[in-house]
Amino acid sequence: MRKKVTVVGAGNVGATCAQELARRDYADVVLVDIIPNYPQGKALDLNQAGAVLGYEPTITGSNGYEESADSDVVVITAGKPRSPGMSRDDLVTTNEAIVSAVTKEAVRHSPKAILVVVSNPLDAMCHVAKALSRFQKNRVVGMAGILDTARFAAFISQELDVSVKDVTAVVLGGHGDQMVPVVSATNVGGIPLEELMPKSRIRKLVDRTRFGGGELVGLLGTSAWYAPGAAAAQMVDSICLDEKRVLPCTAYLEGEYGIEGLYMGVPAKLGAAGVEDIVKLRLTPEEKKMLRASAAAVRDVVSVLKKK
Ligand code: NAI
Ligand code: 2OP
Repeated sequence: MRKKVTVVGAGNVGATCAQELARRDYADVVLVDIIPNYPQGKALDLNQAGAVLGYEPTITGSNGYEESADSDVVVITAGKPRSPGMSRDDLVTTNEAIVSAVTKEAVRHSPKAILVVVSNPLDAMCHVAKALSRFQKNRVVGMAGILDTARFAAFISQELDVSVKDVTAVVLGGHGDQMVPVVSATNVGGIPLEELMPKSRIRKLVDRTRFGGGELVGLLGTSAWYAPGAAAAQMVDSICLDEKRVLPCTAYLEGEYGIEGLYMGVPAKLGAAGVEDIVKLRLTPEEKKMLRASAAAVRDVVSVLKKK
């Protein structure tokens, strides 16, 4: 039986995610947005692309949630993106209101869904979605780690002139400038990164990864969407197809990595039940320190939420 996935927010990230999912052809996709005609227009265009790309035209656009009823997964991309000069955290108040409203409506129509949160500031918005949905922690997960890891992997592959397919990179922590690229767990074809590059080069790639979102905002005038949309779709695959992939996800931590009661990026097993396990990596003392600093930065943002 085909799955059903709703993507809320038909903007750059939402529409890209919807297109990625449509191309997989295992799910009917519902695109919801508040702008009149906009999700309907995007759905029509995406359905017509199916005739070229060879997938079934089963995308529906809507300004309400009736069509989204009984979705298996709801991806939340609604909200304001960054403009130049803004940090992700500057979006907190505006996007808390949007993500709250979206979550309430989405779960009213799809009480059994898994929620994949994308809206920024990501870690804090996961708290909002969990609080408003009242779902168990495994059913609310955030997308950021796949994107941050993809950036780190892409920079490494460019630097070493090797296929990105052979780069295994790891990035943990909050989706902010204090995220933690885990150099000790990063390798190329099994060879530790530290054996392939001098520390000074690694430091530059780590910094570029941490500020990777800002680099794109500087170039585009808004935040990125191709890699984020593809990353969210990869999480949906793992849930809908029960792939049980171990992917970097923003998951609710209750003691793992020494962090209590906070959404943070960690490697997690994603399957039909959502977050089915959190994988514990051995970190160096320096990486542990960086993770604590990242957690403190996330807590600062979470502390300003009305509902946590
Ligand atoms: P966008 O502006 O292109 O699209 C956002 C859409 O949300 C708009 O079409 C808007 O009408 C819609 N929207 C606003 N309020 C809504 C509501 N109450 N109900 C339904 N739809 C609503 O923005 P973009 O680039 O797609 O980014 C979306 C969000 O994702 C932003 O918060 C951005 O910062 C975040 N983001 C997060 C990433 C991550 O790694 N977690 C990566 C990239 C973006
Ligand atoms: C990104 O990292 C802004 O979160 C968004 O591209």
